[in-house]
Amino acid sequence: MLKKIKTLLLMSLLSFTVSSVCAQDAESFVDNLLSKMTLDEKIGQLNQYNGDWGATGKITPDGDKEKQIREGKVGSMLNVTGVDKTRKLQEIALQSRLGIPLIFGQDVIHGFRTTFPIPLGETASWDLALIEKAARIAATEAAAYGIHWTFAPMVDIARDPRWGRVMEGAGEDTYLGSKAAEARVHGFQGKGLGNIDAVMACAKHFAAYGAAVGGRDYNSVDMSNRQLYETYLPPFKAAVDAGVATLMNSFNDINGVPATGNSFILRDILKGEWNFKGFVVSDWGSIGEMIPHGYAKDEADAALKAIIAGSDMDMESRCYKNTLQKLVETGKVPVSIIDDAVKRILLKKYELGLFTDPFRYCNAEREKAQTNNAEHLKFAREAGKKSIVLLRNKNNLLPLNKNTKTVAMIGPFAKATVANHGFWSIAFDDDSTRIVSQYDGIRNHLDKNSVMLYAKGCNENDNDRKGFAEALRIAQKADVVIMSLGEGPAMSGEARSRSNIHFSGVQEDLLKEVAKTGKPIVLLINAGRPLIFNWAADNVQAILYTWWLGTEAGNAIADVVFGDYNPSGKLPMTFPRTEGQIPIYYNHYNTGRPAKDNNDKNYVSAYIDLQNDPKYPFGYGLSYTTFDISNLQLSSSKMTADGKITVSVDVKNTGNYDGEEVVQLYIRDLVGSVVRPVRELKGFTKIALKKGEMQKVIFELKSSDLKFYNEKVRYIDEPGDYEIYVGNSSAATLKGAFELVN
Ligand code: BGC
Repeated sequence: MLKKIKTLLLMSLLSFTVSSVCAQDAESFVDNLLSKMTLDEKIGQLNQYNGDWGATGKITPDGDKEKQIREGKVGSMLNVTGVDKTRKLQEIALQSRLGIPLIFGQDVIHGFRTTFPIPLGETASWDLALIEKAARIAATEAAAYGIHWTFAPMVDIARDPRWGRVMEGAGEDTYLGSKAAEARVHGFQGKGLGNIDAVMACAKHFAAYGAAVGGRDYNSVDMSNRQLYETYLPPFKAAVDAGVATLMNSFNDINGVPATGNSFILRDILKGEWNFKGFVVSDWGSIGEMIPHGYAKDEADAALKAIIAGSDMDMESRCYKNTLQKLVETGKVPVSIIDDAVKRILLKKYELGLFTDPFRYCNAEREKAQTNNAEHLKFAREAGKKSIVLLRNKNNLLPLNKNTKTVAMIGPFAKATVANHGFWSIAFDDDSTRIVSQYDGIRNHLDKNSVMLYAKGCNENDNDRKGFAEALRIAQKADVVIMSLGEGPAMSGEARSRSNIHFSGVQEDLLKEVAKTGKPIVLLINAGRPLIFNWAADNVQAILYTWWLGTEAGNAIADVVFGDYNPSGKLPMTFPRTEGQIPIYYNHYNTGRPAKDNNDKNYVSAYIDLQNDPKYPFGYGLSYTTFDISNLQLSSSKMTADGKITVSVDVKNTGNYDGEEVVQLYIRDLVGSVVRPVRELKGFTKIALKKGEMQKVIFELKSSDLKFYNEKVRYIDEPGDYEIYVGNSSAATLKGAFELVN
């Protein structure tokens, strides 16, 4: 009924019929609609309110939200989930004078009903098709629950594991991060907006949020424009090139100007240089936060600075709603700026098909079909096992034999269920019987005659040692002990910066005690960031880095522990030896006094009390088999400026298992008009080889791959000598060389 009334309203107010709307091209439809809108209604489109779910910032009292929606004062809602709720609010929106539908947004970060590995963990798969598919499934589920828009992917480059939000991104590397950004945007947006299972993606947080000083969330960022362009912006550019519909501001200031009010990054770069046609949403309350930043004196000043800079939609600060009208009326904000922002938003509503059918994402049947979806669970297991990184396997303790007589499982995460989701999973199927714990996963793989023992041992983050005795007692009885340790699932994520990134609580003490029994230990490390665990790394026989793997964590881990799947993950971040090495990343500069090796302290760039190299380098990860990478050949020792060369290597599986290897290509530009990193990732490929099998892997390297930003922030390549390294981590030693000639 409501829909009918609405159609009539649209017909009379806009002189359109619904079918003629479909035939119109987006621009003219939106221009026409815009011409009918009052200033108040326009400002309404720029206003986004929170619905149900937990706030990540201050909530300003709204008065009656439904009334405001009915008055056309709200353009979008976040955190309203489910077809019933979204339908209800959409019906109210359609009662507004022009009946402009709402967009519903939500943080669909690593899955929706089915939870996939945290994005950092999933990136450890180095499997772009897998990353895209996980986003596709998440979008399909979210769209079925009434969601039009996800606030993902997070594409912030992060070189500081103290920062809790490293879990949300793709790690430290610009090249890998750009590829992951592209894959995730394609995954979320599917075949394009307008398709029923597409959700708008949102590349966030623009920009440089990952470089917050000291890894402390929301902190300032101070960096050269060259660094910004070269390291932090490319994943955003990749997202824009992939057609991302929206971007989100970041909370930080960049060189003294908050990102939300930063016209250099929003107007000049994003909407100017990159010609971005979508819209920009603020981060939660970030427009109002320009006041405590000391960049705006009050709400009106904040709104003025944000809208002029190019922030189109106000998430939860109310500054636009409260002050824009007056700012326009007094001539401080030209109405053309408002029109531009509104138009960007309306165009996306049009592209989503909401003017044709505002309820197209409100189908209860579809919602049901995307709940407890067995196919999706199957894929979550696949994604889980491919994200695990084998860090150590002394004497080939892994894979374990399924007939092992007695296995003891110890640790605060062994029997956890929901914890496996990690942070930022807010809409998962909460039927906890659906989540197989790590303990159950292991149990299900073991022979039925094997005995499995369990002790929690300790809590995730306190000083209670009362459980140690029981843990030791069962360890004594076991042939092998599996310990599930790490940091708590809510110890990484937003506002979860840590200054100490060791195992939390007394977990390491428990590990040391259990190790004294002399029993072989398989250590599973649950974490949302690189942790520091030197003692374990040097003493425990086998270590699997399992991040937070999502709904199917238990099964995925067991698949790897027992060798049903041979691990193939590679670290997307450098793992430090101590917090004192942070920030640490593989693509640093050489400096004028590089240390020869770890022992060189003779007036070189080193710590006198610490070696320079990390505990584990970027790109590192073992397999149950071994791979030999050799015979590096270049098609030519010279590359012309518009040309390319091919680089080939032979990769052989020399061990006893079939397996997968991520073959990585790095370059070094030896002399530049600005200094260049000691290594830069420029290509990778993941291949599967049967034992004994050999394959030639060929990379193509183009002169455009050698480009960088010079001192004047111009993107150029420079003739000169380059080194190439190919191998299975950033520490690869197989080397070649070529010259880029004019
Ligand atoms: C986060 C964003 C998120 C938003 C909405 C903010 O606190 O920084 O990443 O999308 O909340 O939940």
